[in-house]
Amino acid sequence: MTVFFSFITCKLIIKDLWKMEKELKRHSFGGSSIIFLLAFPFLCVGLDFFWGNTIPFDRWVQYFSSSETSFIGRKAINKTHEDQEFMNFHLARLVRGDDLRNLESSGFACDKSLHSIVCISNQPTIIDTSNMTIYIPSFNSSQQETIIRPYARQEDIPKVISPVHVIQYKNTTEPPHCQYSHQIPAVIFSSASTGNVFHEMNEIIIPLYITTKHFQSRVLFILEDYKPSFMNKYNKVLSRLSGYSVINPAENGSILCFPGSITGLKYHNNLALNSTGIPGGYSMQDFKHFLIRAYSLKYTHVSEMSKPRLMLLSRTNTRRFLNEDEMVSIMKELGFQVIIVRRSKVISNLNIFSQMINSCSVLVGAHGAGLTNEIFLPSGAVMVQVELLGTEWASNTYYGDTARAMGVNYLRYKIEPEESSLVKLYGRNSSIVTDPGSFFYKVGNLRAARTAYLDQQNVRINLDRFRGTLVEALSIVTAFEQ
Ligand SMILES: *[C@@H]1O[C@H](CO)[C@@H](O)[C@H](O)[C@H]1NC(C)=O
Ligand SMILES: *[C@@H]1O[C@H](CO)[C@@H](O)[C@H](O)[C@H]1NC(C)=O
Ligand SMILES: *[C@@H]1O[C@H](CO)[C@@H](O)[C@H](O)[C@H]1NC(C)=O
Ligand SMILES: *[C@@H]1O[C@H](CO)[C@@H](O)[C@H](O)[C@H]1NC(C)=O
Ligand SMILES: *[C@@H]1O[C@H](CO)[C@@H](O)[C@H](O)[C@H]1NC(C)=O
Ligand SMILES: *[C@@H]1O[C@H](CO)[C@@H](O)[C@H](O)[C@H]1NC(C)=O
Ligand SMILES: *[C@@H]1O[C@H](CO)[C@@H](O)[C@H](O)[C@H]1NC(C)=O
Repeated sequence: MTVFFSFITCKLIIKDLWKMEKELKRHSFGGSSIIFLLAFPFLCVGLDFFWGNTIPFDRWVQYFSSSETSFIGRKAINKTHEDQEFMNFHLARLVRGDDLRNLESSGFACDKSLHSIVCISNQPTIIDTSNMTIYIPSFNSSQQETIIRPYARQEDIPKVISPVHVIQYKNTTEPPHCQYSHQIPAVIFSSASTGNVFHEMNEIIIPLYITTKHFQSRVLFILEDYKPSFMNKYNKVLSRLSGYSVINPAENGSILCFPGSITGLKYHNNLALNSTGIPGGYSMQDFKHFLIRAYSLKYTHVSEMSKPRLMLLSRTNTRRFLNEDEMVSIMKELGFQVIIVRRSKVISNLNIFSQMINSCSVLVGAHGAGLTNEIFLPSGAVMVQVELLGTEWASNTYYGDTARAMGVNYLRYKIEPEESSLVKLYGRNSSIVTDPGSFFYKVGNLRAARTAYLDQQNVRINLDRFRGTLVEALSIVTAFEQ
């Protein structure tokens, strides 16, 4: 018994001595502490061995961990207290102005913006995962209920997002009893999605990064509308943002307790984050490096690659390249190694596909969700977007800005009317062909415009002109070669 105690006690003492060593060094007592450090374990084993019965184990522990008595104790940390401080500090960073004052005065605040609503609580939060009801104490005698659909840009697909009921219960009501308690805040969001990589990145992954990166993994995710396919695709990202297993409420059904919570995710812009609006000031470049680490990608910059490699995203339903073979011939002629990717399983397996994209220095594709994969390109790479008629605004807004913000060069290949299949369909002089801008925005035409430009349009690339764009791309990515 005594030997067992000695072992544990000395382990604790040695651990503290390491801290003491550091402390002494800081106060420049330098070398003398080493002797102390080496001698003390023997001393303590001896003491405990002979007087084991007179110096009870719990006294040792108390002495070396209590904040009153221990020399190092003043530095010793009350873990629970520290966790609480850490959480409160980082939760408060998610709200500003009136919202921050609300959080401080009532323990609960919602940040509402054009697209999203995020509610923060720094009070004990009880979550009934069987019907996603969240109980938070109210500071007064009235009960309030807030219904949240925890999805950034929730206006896009409101019906498929399951609601969360947040109840601020009055101080006379007894909330449900905890079955499991955690020391970190819960983050509740929905993975209801269509499997479309643009929407997943835009409305879940980037918002999740904006909302939780600064917690340094000390958060637990509760994923509503849980989809195994989503988890497979983004598990590497989720496990970098949270050090805990993701909870699927539909499967769990227990009553879980947390010291605080975040319901919903923040949203900034299309495939974008604004570093002034994110705790920690992370930028799109930081997000890229985060992805590189999460997916263990090989290249951070094109200069690390030995050969120019080009990936052509070949769409098979809409916005098809009608002379793809000729395009590929030119690419090969210019010296690119070419990878052609068609709609297939590989695209949705991000663990593999992110590596494939990352091994390319040039990505070429027509406007469409697949271009979201540009986020895996190394810095200094080139993204070539083929802008079909009527997609000019969307092309630039969705993928141009994102590429630039991530240090990827962005080249447009804006097609001429003659290259569009819409000429055959509507006539060269139809306003659909001659004036997409005004056709698109004429009231009532939005649906017709989407059908025409996004669904009915294919493109036969002008090879001479396209060669010019590829030559430019090649010169950019080979500029680093000696
Ligand atoms: C540690 O902090 C918690 C929360 O602030 C407090 O309830 C507890 O009494 C503290 N424990 C010690 C040993 O100071
Ligand atoms: C009670 O607190 C909530 C916010 O926690 C507030 O909206 C409400 O107005 C308060 N009610 C009273 C009667 O003070
Ligand atoms: C959730 O379930 C609990 C316990 O069954 C019930 O008291 C509560 O009213 C339910 N909440 C909603 C929003 O249905
Ligand atoms: C509940 O809150 C009200 C308003 O702040 C207060 O007057 C009342 O005493 C509280 N009741 C209990 C049981 O704490
Ligand atoms: C529910 O989640 C808790 C973690 O908070 C876990 O310990 C428990 O095993 C889960 N229960 C089920 C049925 O999955
Ligand atoms: C970023 O956010 C700040 C304030 O939050 C705003 O002033 C600025 O215009 C935003 N920048 C962009 C590019 O949206
Ligand atoms: C289109 O209009 C131009 C003059 O505006 C005319 O010369 C040409 O023949 C027209 N083409 C078609 C296919 O109608």
